[in-house]
Formats: sequence, structure tokens, C-alpha cells
Amino acid sequence: MTRRRKIYEGKAKTLYEGPEPGTLIQHFKDDATAQNGKKHEIIDGKGVLNNRISEFVFNKLNNLGVPTHFLRRLNMREQLIKEVEIIPIEVVVRNIAAGSISKRLGLEQGTRLPRSIIEFYYKDDALGDPLISEEHITAFGWATPQELDDIMSLAVRVNDFLSGLFAGVGIQLVDFKIECGRQFEGDLMRIVVADEISPDTCRLWDAKTRKKLDKDVFREDLGDLADAYREVAQRLGILVETENALSTGPRLVE
Ligand code: TMP
Repeated sequence: MTRRRKIYEGKAKTLYEGPEPGTLIQHFKDDATAQNGKKHEIIDGKGVLNNRISEFVFNKLNNLGVPTHFLRRLNMREQLIKEVEIIPIEVVVRNIAAGSISKRLGLEQGTRLPRSIIEFYYKDDALGDPLISEEHITAFGWATPQELDDIMSLAVRVNDFLSGLFAGVGIQLVDFKIECGRQFEGDLMRIVVADEISPDTCRLWDAKTRKKLDKDVFREDLGDLADAYREVAQRLGILVETENALSTGPRLVE
């Protein structure tokens, strides 16, 4: 097997040099981390599920004309992506109060917010990804005002799309995080959605029971994380139940 050049290794994914200039391979690992890396476990099958769910979402965004870094899935754990310059900001969109906004503002988890709220966090593990404002982003030059406009309009489009997608399969989109990057094509630059969109980066609740189907299952020790992600994949039609009752469970749809 040829050795590939590793470009970057994060907590849940590794990036390798791609087959052509301007491309990278994004590899999904089974590692789950929380509390800024203090809690860490290997969850068998998580990487495979996130690769498939993220492929499904990014393909649909590309087809809607929402630009992303995604090109195509290569195998069970890897996808081919365009190389982008990652903007060091996590963009969080919230529809319902949960997680850090509930703690920060004393909002009861599950409270519908008056409108969707966009927040920004500076990507820095050593600082614990602090909440920042638009002022910080432009003053420190992490993005220009025009780029920030593009990032916010991408975030709104992704929220509209994901809210509808999940509502259609009985899931409430509570909140999610995206990352954006600069994609260069000759002299042109555009902002695209990068990284991944999966139950690792979204809060997803069953619309009727409010059962959690996302990484909070791991953060809060609520049960089997892979089971929750499998349920999301099944509802989206990415996984189907096998007809043979003796088989070991759902199988991935090609
Ligand atoms: P928070 O409530 O902890 O701020 O998280 C908001 C959303 O962002 C939630 O869907 C989880 C996601 N998120 C990430 O994907 N990565 C992160 O590092 C953090 C802090 C949140």
C-alpha cells in the first residue's frame, strides 16, 4: 500500500494529500471526544456512519447550489474534498435552546428561541473555543466583512435546508455547527461549507419524544452513540433494515 502524506490530524478526522492538486482525502475516525478532549472513547462504526451522513447532506447542499468542499465519497471511511483555507471560526446556528446557550443565559433546554441565532466561536483548543463577536472576527482579520456576510448567508441556507430535511423524518434540528473555508480557483475565491455535517456537529431530537440522536448521547452518557447515529441514517434512508430477521441489523445502502 502506498503511503499517503498526512496533512492534519484532528480529534475525529484525518486529512491526507489527495490524488490531484487542490484535493484532499478526509478520513473519518471512530474517536469520540467531549469536554475539549478530556472525555475520549472509540465508538465502533461512528466514522463509517458520519462519512455516509455527511456525504448525504453535502451532496444535497451541492445540488441546491450551496457551495461545499465535498466532491465524492471514496470508501466506507473516506471522502474526496477540495482543498480550502479553513477560516478559524466555528459557526453555530441555534433554533432551540440547549447546550452552552442554556448554561450561559439560563434558558431552559428545549425553549424555542425567538428566531434562529448565529454565534461564532474562535477555533482554539488551548482557549476552549471561546465565544466571539463579529467585531473580533473583522478586527483580528480572521475574515473580512464581505466574507462574514457570505458565511452568515451560508449558515442561514444550511439551517433552512437541514431544518426541512430533518423535520421530514421526524427529527427536530436544535442547533448545529459548520466550518467555512476559502476555495481558490485561479484568481477567484469563494467561501464554501467545509468539514462535516453529522450527528457529531448537530443537536438532533426525535420530534415526538425529544429523545437525543446526536453526540449529547456520548457527552451525557445516555446510551449507545452508534445506535443513535444509525437511527438518524435509517430515517434519512441511508441505511435500510435487512429483510432477513436473522441478520445482525441494518445494512448500508450502496
Ligand atoms: P454548544 O451548545 O456546546 O455551544 O454547541 C452548539 C452546537 O455546536 C452543537 O450542535 C454541537 C456543535 N459543536 C461542535 O460541533 N463542535 C464543538 O466543538 C462545539 C463546542 C459544538
